[in-house]
Amino acid sequence: MSFNGKTIVVTGTSSGIGAATAALLAERGALVIGLDIKGNGDGLADFRACDLSDPASIDAALAGLDQPLHGLANVAGVPGSLDGETVMKINVLGLRHVTEALLPRLQAGSAIVHVASGAGAGWRERLDLSRDLLRQRSFDEGLAWLQDHPMAGPDAYNFSKEVVIVYAMAFSMLARPHGLRSLSVSPGAVETPILADFYNTMGEDILDRLKAQSGGRNGAPEDIAKVIAFGLSDDAAWLNGTDIGVDGGSEVSLHFDLVDVPADQSAEAFFGR
Ligand SMILES: NC(=O)c1ccc[n+]([C@@H]2O[C@H](COP(=O)([O-])OP(=O)(O)OC[C@H]3O[C@@H](n4cnc5c(N)ncnc54)[C@H](O)[C@@H]3O)[C@@H](O)[C@H]2O)c1
Repeated sequence: MSFNGKTIVVTGTSSGIGAATAALLAERGALVIGLDIKGNGDGLADFRACDLSDPASIDAALAGLDQPLHGLANVAGVPGSLDGETVMKINVLGLRHVTEALLPRLQAGSAIVHVASGAGAGWRERLDLSRDLLRQRSFDEGLAWLQDHPMAGPDAYNFSKEVVIVYAMAFSMLARPHGLRSLSVSPGAVETPILADFYNTMGEDILDRLKAQSGGRNGAPEDIAKVIAFGLSDDAAWLNGTDIGVDGGSEVSLHFDLVDVPADQSAEAFFGR
């Protein structure tokens, strides 16, 4: 995976998965332009401070960014410990505002990779609600919709990630004729500062079970960054309009209890070890 000669915008570069993604892309030759509300962009080609909950702040940060771009990774996000409206503004409306503001500069062959979450796995069940929100085309119309559909923080977090998955898929149909790809990457639990919030909002039982299923550890930011970078790369030219789960195989444990292992055998015996 080489990104020589490519300029890629990454949001959330000051911490966790966004920081790991920016570092990996830069190591592989990309000029990375970081966007984050915190930090100063140490080690990046360019950094612009911006608050994704505020479209004016996004527009100001992107002003003068006129060069051709070859990819966008929307990684920044906040957990469900914040109020529902703030979660939705940052995780959905701000993400969309950045994406659509940068569209004219994204060259044919570029990819847009949004970071969603395993928490968005229920997107099919609430597809109509996601569509309804996405039909509100401006940030302000989206905000008015959110105010008509209030949600508590934890539910807003799940819904925000469902909408991101649906947005990535729907957008791919519009983007393909322009030579652009659009997809989402959905991590399971990853060791970053927001994981503590997930333990509070989702509970230890479920997160411990996921961790056991993924081999006794949570993901590292680099585990996710490698998949985001692949999605952005030319090697992923046939990857479009889809969501990629990156969770060490943990999510299956929510749906199956080793159903295929005969009841009289332990998993160890089943695998012959
Ligand atoms: N860590 C996990 O377990 C996990 C699991 C699934 C999905 N995710 C998703 O991964 C993405 C990255 O999260 P992370 O785990 O690296 O967390 P993190 O807290 O380490 O990083 C989030 C980054 O987003 C930035 N950010 C927050 N609010 C912002 C705002 N208003 N404007 C601009 N930037 C803002 C933060 O400053 C920070 O640099 C998020 O979208 C999160 O929902 C994380």
